[in-house]
This record gives sequence, C-alpha cells and structure tokens, in this order.
Amino acid sequence: MEKINILGLGPGNKEYILPITKKYIKKSDILIGGRRNIESLGTLAEGKEMRYIDRYLDELTLYIKENRDKKISLIVSGDSGFYSMVPFMKKHFEIKDLNIISGISSMQYMFSTIGYSYEDTFIASVHGRECDYLTPIKEGKKIGLLTDNKTTPQVLARNLLENQIKGTIFVGERLSYDDERITRMSLEDMTDLKIIFEINVVVVIPS
Ligand SMILES: C[S@@+](CC[C@H](N)C(=O)[O-])C[C@H]1O[C@@H](n2cnc3c(N)ncnc32)[C@H](O)[C@@H]1O
Repeated sequence: MEKINILGLGPGNKEYILPITKKYIKKSDILIGGRRNIESLGTLAEGKEMRYIDRYLDELTLYIKENRDKKISLIVSGDSGFYSMVPFMKKHFEIKDLNIISGISSMQYMFSTIGYSYEDTFIASVHGRECDYLTPIKEGKKIGLLTDNKTTPQVLARNLLENQIKGTIFVGERLSYDDERITRMSLEDMTDLKIIFEINVVVVIPS
C-alpha cells in the first residue's frame, strides 16, 4: 500500500514550494486540499484526480481509505506541522502510513519579511480558538499569531492596550503573493483602523 503524503505548500506563491514537494505532487494520482491551495498549483496539478476539502471530513477519510492503492497527496498551506491536518490524519491513519513533508510557514515568511527573528517569540493561533498571548508579551516576548475574521488585528490591539501593553503591530496579508500587503503601526493607531483585513498573520513587538 502507498503511503499518504501530507505536503506543506508554503505561504502560497509557487516559488516557495519546495522541490521535494513538487516531486511528490508530480508523482501523485490524487490531490486533496483546500480549493485555494489546489488551484494555486496550476499546471502542476494537470491530469490529477482532485478532491477539495469541505466540512465533511469523515467522507474524506473514507475516500482516502477506498483509494489506498493510488498515490495520494494531501496538500496543506504553509508548514504541515503548524496548525495543520496532521493531528486529524494521525487519528485515522497510522503514522507509518503517512509521509509528512514540511513547508515554509506563513509565520516564518512573515518574520523574515518584516526583518525580525522568531526564536524569542510566543507563536500561536487565534484562528477559531482562544489562547493566552497576554502572559508572554507581559514578560517582554514578541508574539506571532495566526488570526481569523473574529479575532482581528484591531481586536488584538484593543485587548493588548486594555492590558497596558504598548508596542508595534505588523499585519501581513496575502503573504508571498504579488499583492501582498504589510501594515505596520502602533497598537493605539490599529484600534481605530477602519480596514477589513484579508487572511493575515500578526506580529506584535512590545516597546
Ligand atoms: C489553518 S492555518 C494554517 C497555517 C499554515 N499551516 C502555516 O504554516 O502557515 C491558516 C492561517 O494561516 C495564516 N495564513 C496562511 N497563509 C497565509 C498567507 N499567504 N497570508 C497571510 N496569512 C496566511 C492565516 O492566519 C490563516 O488564518
């Protein structure tokens, strides 16, 4: 039986897809992933059977189990090991049956783009979940967060200010694409900003 590849695609631009990932994509019979990720593959995905991920993940695992004789690649955004589908896949398949290939995370990409390193940073996600980012920033650490349309950069800035934290906030939208936008400002200025940010990563540097 073939191993199931889980491939980290990088932040989005094809130039950030690792050569090993391209190799596995080319060898695949079936590509599974979010519509945006699969469509971004362009000619790399030509001739492959494609399956988009929707809400019905039980159907997805059944489909994979029924097609184990084929070469299957599950395409995930950024790094496969960072807020990705690896924990879900490990619940349904044995680790020996998975071939997990990392990619460049949107968080890694964001830090190099704004010119900071991330070894002393609290990194987490508020995408559909809560996390305590106040404690680490109060201790003087930078924070890097994956966001969603509920916990926006404005919501984060207000919460930080209400907790007496001052600093600079960076918002990275559409990272690595031609229309990438990086916004940099004080936490105070962010609270009143009348912009609806697209899918983004936030970094806050305390002052
Ligand atoms: C389910 S998480 C997946 C993270 C991914 N595994 C990674 O390493 O980047 C989705 C979140 O990643 C961030 N993200 C992924 N790609 C992005 C991009 N090109 N530009 C901005 N944010 C991105 C957003 O915060 C989004 O809500």
